[in-house]
Amino acid sequence: MEIASAVNELREKILAWKKHGRKIGFVPTMGYLHEGHLSLVRESKKRSEVTVVSIFVNPKQFGPSEDYRVYPRDLERDRALLEKEGVDLVFYPPVDVMYPEGYKTYVEVEDLQDRLCGKSRPGHFRGVCTVVLKLFNLVQPDEAYFGWKDAQQVIILQKMVEDLNVPVKIVPLPLVRDHDGLALSSRNTYLSPEERRAALVLKKSLDLAEKLILEGEKEAGRIREEMIELISAEPLARLDYVEIVKLNNLEPLERIEGEVLIALAVFIGRTRLIDNLRITSGGIEK
Ligand code: PAJ
Repeated sequence: MEIASAVNELREKILAWKKHGRKIGFVPTMGYLHEGHLSLVRESKKRSEVTVVSIFVNPKQFGPSEDYRVYPRDLERDRALLEKEGVDLVFYPPVDVMYPEGYKTYVEVEDLQDRLCGKSRPGHFRGVCTVVLKLFNLVQPDEAYFGWKDAQQVIILQKMVEDLNVPVKIVPLPLVRDHDGLALSSRNTYLSPEERRAALVLKKSLDLAEKLILEGEKEAGRIREEMIELISAEPLARLDYVEIVKLNNLEPLERIEGEVLIALAVFIGRTRLIDNLRITSGGIEK
Protein backbone atom coordinates (compact mmCIF):
# COMPACT_ATOMS: atom_id res chain seq x y z
CA MET A 1 0.00 0.00 0.00
CA GLU A 2 1.32 3.42 -0.93
CA ILE A 3 0.72 6.74 0.75
CA ALA A 4 0.69 9.88 -1.38
CA SER A 5 0.70 13.35 0.13
CA ALA A 6 1.45 15.40 -2.98
CA VAL A 7 -0.83 15.92 -5.97
CA ASN A 8 1.75 14.80 -8.56
CA GLU A 9 2.43 11.53 -6.68
CA LEU A 10 -1.29 10.78 -6.66
CA ARG A 11 -1.80 11.81 -10.30
CA GLU A 12 0.99 9.53 -11.51
CA LYS A 13 -0.59 6.49 -9.86
CA ILE A 14 -4.09 7.34 -11.02
CA LEU A 15 -2.98 7.95 -14.62
CA ALA A 16 -1.22 4.58 -14.76
CA TRP A 17 -4.38 2.81 -13.56
CA LYS A 18 -6.57 4.80 -15.97
CA LYS A 19 -4.28 3.86 -18.87
CA HIS A 20 -4.87 0.21 -18.06
CA GLY A 21 -8.62 0.79 -17.82
CA ARG A 22 -8.82 -0.17 -14.15
CA LYS A 23 -12.08 0.50 -12.30
CA ILE A 24 -11.22 2.87 -9.45
CA GLY A 25 -13.20 2.82 -6.19
CA PHE A 26 -12.79 5.70 -3.75
CA VAL A 27 -13.56 6.12 -0.03
CA PRO A 28 -13.13 9.69 1.27
CA THR A 29 -12.63 9.90 5.06
CA MET A 30 -11.36 12.17 7.79
CA GLY A 31 -9.48 9.26 9.37
CA TYR A 32 -9.59 7.81 12.89
CA LEU A 33 -11.12 4.85 11.16
CA HIS A 34 -13.69 2.44 12.57
CA GLU A 35 -15.80 -0.44 11.23
CA GLY A 36 -18.16 2.05 9.51
CA HIS A 37 -15.32 3.35 7.35
CA LEU A 38 -13.95 -0.15 6.81
CA SER A 39 -17.34 -1.41 5.58
CA LEU A 40 -17.05 1.17 2.76
CA VAL A 41 -13.50 0.02 1.99
CA ARG A 42 -14.63 -3.62 1.83
CA GLU A 43 -17.42 -2.76 -0.59
CA SER A 44 -14.95 -0.88 -2.77
CA LYS A 45 -12.64 -3.90 -2.75
CA LYS A 46 -15.55 -6.06 -3.89
CA ARG A 47 -16.81 -3.74 -6.63
CA SER A 48 -13.68 -2.08 -7.98
CA GLU A 49 -10.26 -3.15 -9.25
CA VAL A 50 -8.30 -0.59 -7.26
CA THR A 51 -9.28 1.12 -4.02
CA VAL A 52 -8.14 4.60 -3.01
CA VAL A 53 -8.86 5.99 0.47
CA SER A 54 -8.32 9.62 1.40
CA ILE A 55 -7.61 10.78 4.93
CA PHE A 56 -8.06 14.53 5.30
CA VAL A 57 -9.56 16.43 8.21
CA ASN A 58 -11.11 19.17 6.11
CA PRO A 59 -10.91 22.53 7.93
CA LYS A 60 -13.52 24.08 5.61
CA GLN A 61 -16.35 21.90 6.88
CA PHE A 62 -15.84 22.85 10.55
CA GLY A 63 -17.39 25.99 12.05
CA PRO A 64 -15.19 28.41 14.02
CA SER A 65 -16.42 27.05 17.38
CA GLU A 66 -16.31 23.41 16.28
CA ASP A 67 -13.81 20.64 16.96
CA TYR A 68 -11.38 20.94 13.99
CA ARG A 69 -8.29 21.28 16.17
CA VAL A 70 -9.13 18.43 18.53
CA TYR A 71 -10.70 16.10 15.93
CA PRO A 72 -9.03 12.72 16.62
CA ARG A 73 -6.13 11.77 14.35
CA ASP A 74 -4.00 8.60 14.28
CA LEU A 75 -2.32 7.98 10.93
CA GLU A 76 -0.31 4.97 12.06
CA ARG A 77 -3.39 3.12 13.29
CA ASP A 78 -5.37 4.08 10.15
CA ARG A 79 -2.52 2.96 7.92
CA ALA A 80 -2.36 -0.46 9.57
CA LEU A 81 -6.13 -0.94 9.27
CA LEU A 82 -6.16 0.02 5.58
CA GLU A 83 -3.13 -2.11 4.79
CA LYS A 84 -4.94 -5.11 6.26
CA GLU A 85 -7.97 -4.44 4.04
CA GLY A 86 -5.75 -4.48 0.94
CA VAL A 87 -6.19 -0.81 0.01
CA ASP A 88 -4.01 0.18 -2.94
CA LEU A 89 -3.39 3.86 -2.23
CA VAL A 90 -3.97 6.28 0.63
CA PHE A 91 -4.13 9.98 -0.20
CA TYR A 92 -3.09 11.96 2.88
CA PRO A 93 -2.59 15.58 1.87
CA PRO A 94 -1.54 18.40 4.18
CA VAL A 95 -3.95 21.32 4.39
CA ASP A 96 -1.86 23.60 2.13
CA VAL A 97 -1.90 21.03 -0.67
CA MET A 98 -5.72 21.09 -0.69
CA TYR A 99 -6.03 24.81 0.05
CA PRO A 100 -2.92 26.72 -0.99
CA GLU A 101 -2.77 30.39 -0.09
CA GLY A 102 -5.22 32.39 -2.14
CA TYR A 103 -7.73 29.53 -2.51
CA LYS A 104 -11.08 30.96 -3.67
CA THR A 105 -13.44 28.40 -5.19
CA TYR A 106 -16.42 26.76 -3.41
CA VAL A 107 -19.30 24.47 -4.28
CA GLU A 108 -22.76 25.00 -2.83
CA VAL A 109 -25.88 22.90 -3.24
CA GLU A 110 -28.59 25.48 -2.60
CA ASP A 111 -31.50 24.75 -0.30
CA LEU A 112 -30.44 21.19 0.63
CA GLN A 113 -27.33 22.59 2.36
CA ASP A 114 -29.49 24.77 4.65
CA ARG A 115 -31.70 22.00 6.04
CA LEU A 116 -31.23 19.61 9.03
CA CYS A 117 -27.53 19.73 10.05
CA GLY A 118 -27.01 22.73 7.77
CA LYS A 119 -29.15 24.87 10.08
CA SER A 120 -26.94 24.32 13.10
CA ARG A 121 -23.70 24.05 11.09
CA PRO A 122 -23.78 26.92 8.56
CA GLY A 123 -21.14 26.46 5.87
CA HIS A 124 -20.63 22.78 6.74
CA PHE A 125 -21.96 21.31 3.49
CA ARG A 126 -20.25 23.99 1.41
CA GLY A 127 -17.01 22.70 2.91
CA VAL A 128 -17.99 19.07 2.32
CA CYS A 129 -19.01 19.62 -1.33
CA THR A 130 -15.90 21.65 -2.06
CA VAL A 131 -13.50 19.05 -0.68
CA VAL A 132 -15.35 16.08 -2.18
CA LEU A 133 -15.42 17.63 -5.66
CA LYS A 134 -11.69 18.41 -5.37
CA LEU A 135 -11.00 14.83 -4.26
CA PHE A 136 -13.10 13.48 -7.14
CA ASN A 137 -11.06 15.60 -9.59
CA LEU A 138 -7.83 14.32 -8.08
CA VAL A 139 -8.71 10.63 -7.74
CA GLN A 140 -11.04 10.43 -10.79
CA PRO A 141 -12.88 7.40 -9.39
CA ASP A 142 -15.56 5.44 -11.20
CA GLU A 143 -17.44 4.93 -7.94
CA ALA A 144 -17.27 6.58 -4.52
CA TYR A 145 -18.66 5.01 -1.36
CA PHE A 146 -20.45 6.92 1.39
CA GLY A 147 -22.26 5.81 4.55
CA TRP A 148 -25.96 6.43 5.25
CA LYS A 149 -24.73 7.48 8.71
CA ASP A 150 -24.47 10.93 7.10
CA ALA A 151 -27.73 10.80 5.16
CA GLN A 152 -27.89 14.51 4.32
CA GLN A 153 -24.30 14.31 3.01
CA VAL A 154 -25.34 11.47 0.66
CA ILE A 155 -28.39 13.37 -0.65
CA ILE A 156 -26.39 16.58 -1.20
CA LEU A 157 -23.46 14.84 -2.93
CA GLN A 158 -25.86 12.95 -5.21
CA LYS A 159 -27.39 16.29 -6.19
CA MET A 160 -23.94 17.84 -6.70
CA VAL A 161 -22.77 15.12 -9.11
CA GLU A 162 -26.08 15.25 -10.96
CA ASP A 163 -26.13 19.04 -11.30
CA LEU A 164 -22.45 19.41 -12.22
CA ASN A 165 -22.32 16.31 -14.48
CA VAL A 166 -19.54 14.81 -12.39
CA PRO A 167 -18.75 11.37 -13.89
CA VAL A 168 -18.66 9.56 -10.53
CA LYS A 169 -21.26 7.13 -9.24
CA ILE A 170 -22.13 7.79 -5.59
CA VAL A 171 -22.80 4.48 -3.83
CA PRO A 172 -24.51 4.86 -0.41
CA LEU A 173 -23.96 2.01 2.06
CA PRO A 174 -25.61 0.92 5.34
CA LEU A 175 -25.00 2.60 8.67
CA VAL A 176 -22.79 0.47 10.93
CA ARG A 177 -23.56 0.35 14.68
CA ASP A 178 -21.72 -0.73 17.79
CA HIS A 179 -22.91 -3.90 19.57
CA ASP A 180 -25.38 -1.87 21.67
CA GLY A 181 -26.81 0.14 18.78
CA LEU A 182 -24.80 3.36 18.99
CA ALA A 183 -23.93 4.54 15.46
CA LEU A 184 -20.14 4.29 15.04
CA SER A 185 -18.49 7.69 14.77
CA SER A 186 -14.96 9.00 15.20
CA ARG A 187 -16.51 11.51 17.63
CA ASN A 188 -17.66 8.72 20.02
CA THR A 189 -14.12 8.84 21.36
CA TYR A 190 -14.99 12.17 23.06
CA LEU A 191 -17.63 10.49 25.27
CA SER A 192 -17.03 9.68 28.94
CA PRO A 193 -18.37 6.26 30.05
CA GLU A 194 -21.46 7.97 31.46
CA GLU A 195 -22.02 9.93 28.24
CA ARG A 196 -21.45 6.78 26.19
CA ARG A 197 -24.45 5.21 27.99
CA ALA A 198 -26.56 8.36 27.56
CA ALA A 199 -25.72 8.42 23.83
CA LEU A 200 -27.89 5.34 23.33
CA VAL A 201 -30.88 7.68 23.49
CA LEU A 202 -30.42 8.53 19.78
CA LYS A 203 -30.88 4.94 18.66
CA LYS A 204 -33.64 4.40 21.24
CA SER A 205 -35.61 7.33 19.83
CA LEU A 206 -35.33 5.81 16.35
CA ASP A 207 -36.45 2.42 17.71
CA LEU A 208 -39.48 4.20 19.16
CA ALA A 209 -40.22 5.88 15.82
CA GLU A 210 -39.96 2.52 14.06
CA LYS A 211 -42.32 0.92 16.58
CA LEU A 212 -44.92 3.69 16.14
CA ILE A 213 -44.68 3.45 12.34
CA LEU A 214 -45.07 -0.33 12.43
CA GLU A 215 -48.13 0.14 14.66
CA GLY A 216 -49.60 2.27 11.87
CA GLU A 217 -48.84 5.82 13.05
CA LYS A 218 -48.79 8.09 9.98
CA GLU A 219 -48.64 11.52 11.56
CA ALA A 220 -45.06 12.83 11.50
CA GLY A 221 -45.79 15.39 14.22
CA ARG A 222 -46.85 12.69 16.71
CA ILE A 223 -43.76 10.56 16.02
CA ARG A 224 -41.54 13.60 16.41
CA GLU A 225 -43.15 14.57 19.72
CA GLU A 226 -42.68 11.10 21.17
CA MET A 227 -39.04 11.05 20.09
CA ILE A 228 -38.44 14.48 21.65
CA GLU A 229 -40.08 13.39 24.89
CA LEU A 230 -37.81 10.35 25.11
CA ILE A 231 -34.69 12.42 24.43
CA SER A 232 -35.71 15.11 26.95
CA ALA A 233 -35.89 12.44 29.65
CA GLU A 234 -32.13 11.84 29.31
CA PRO A 235 -30.38 14.39 31.57
CA LEU A 236 -27.08 14.34 29.63
CA ALA A 237 -28.80 14.92 26.28
CA ARG A 238 -29.65 18.26 24.68
CA LEU A 239 -31.67 18.08 21.48
CA ASP A 240 -30.39 19.91 18.41
CA TYR A 241 -33.12 18.69 16.03
CA VAL A 242 -35.41 15.81 15.11
CA GLU A 243 -36.85 16.08 11.62
CA ILE A 244 -39.04 13.91 9.46
CA VAL A 245 -38.47 14.73 5.80
CA LYS A 246 -38.80 13.41 2.28
CA LEU A 247 -35.64 11.39 1.57
CA ASN A 248 -34.80 12.86 -1.85
CA ASN A 249 -35.30 16.59 -1.19
CA LEU A 250 -35.23 16.85 2.63
CA GLU A 251 -38.55 18.74 2.71
CA PRO A 252 -40.58 18.37 5.92
CA LEU A 253 -43.37 15.78 5.80
CA GLU A 254 -46.68 15.82 7.62
CA ARG A 255 -47.46 12.21 6.90
CA ILE A 256 -45.32 9.10 6.65
CA GLU A 257 -45.62 8.42 2.94
CA GLY A 258 -43.19 7.41 0.20
CA GLU A 259 -39.45 7.56 0.92
CA VAL A 260 -38.85 9.10 4.34
CA LEU A 261 -35.81 10.19 6.35
CA ILE A 262 -36.07 10.58 10.11
CA ALA A 263 -32.89 12.37 11.18
CA LEU A 264 -31.73 13.74 14.49
CA ALA A 265 -28.79 15.48 16.12
CA VAL A 266 -28.29 15.49 19.88
CA PHE A 267 -25.58 16.97 22.07
CA ILE A 268 -24.38 14.50 24.68
CA GLY A 269 -22.40 16.75 26.96
CA ARG A 270 -20.34 18.78 24.47
CA THR A 271 -20.34 16.12 21.76
CA ARG A 272 -22.81 16.48 18.91
CA LEU A 273 -23.98 13.11 17.59
CA ILE A 274 -26.26 12.30 14.63
CA ASP A 275 -28.33 9.28 13.68
CA ASN A 276 -31.19 8.46 11.30
CA LEU A 277 -33.57 5.93 9.88
CA ARG A 278 -34.79 5.68 6.33
CA ILE A 279 -38.02 4.26 4.97
CA THR A 280 -37.77 3.08 1.34
CA SER A 281 -39.49 0.48 -0.80
CA GLY A 282 -37.11 -1.99 0.87
CA GLY A 283 -38.61 -1.26 4.31
CA ILE A 284 -37.20 0.52 7.36
CA GLU A 285 -33.40 0.80 7.56
CA LYS A 286 -31.44 2.14 10.46
P1 PAJ B 1 -15.97 10.78 7.99
O1 PAJ B 1 -16.85 11.27 9.09
O2 PAJ B 1 -14.60 10.31 8.31
O3 PAJ B 1 -16.73 9.64 7.25
C1 PAJ B 1 -16.20 9.07 6.07
C2 PAJ B 1 -17.26 8.16 5.46
O4 PAJ B 1 -17.56 7.11 6.40
C3 PAJ B 1 -18.59 8.90 5.21
O5 PAJ B 1 -19.15 8.44 3.97
C4 PAJ B 1 -19.45 8.48 6.38
O6 PAJ B 1 -20.84 8.51 6.11
C5 PAJ B 1 -18.95 7.06 6.59
N1 PAJ B 1 -19.30 6.60 7.94
C6 PAJ B 1 -18.98 7.20 9.12
N2 PAJ B 1 -19.52 6.50 10.15
C7 PAJ B 1 -20.21 5.47 9.61
C8 PAJ B 1 -21.01 4.40 10.13
N3 PAJ B 1 -21.21 4.26 11.43
N4 PAJ B 1 -21.56 3.53 9.27
C9 PAJ B 1 -21.36 3.67 7.93
N5 PAJ B 1 -20.62 4.64 7.37
C10 PAJ B 1 -20.06 5.53 8.19
O7 PAJ B 1 -17.98 12.11 6.18
C11 PAJ B 1 -16.84 12.56 6.22
O8 PAJ B 1 -15.79 11.95 6.90
C12 PAJ B 1 -16.44 13.85 5.51
O9 PAJ B 1 -17.54 14.71 5.48
C13 PAJ B 1 -15.91 13.60 4.07
C14 PAJ B 1 -16.96 12.98 3.16
C15 PAJ B 1 -14.65 12.73 4.11
C16 PAJ B 1 -15.50 14.97 3.45
O10 PAJ B 1 -14.55 15.61 4.23
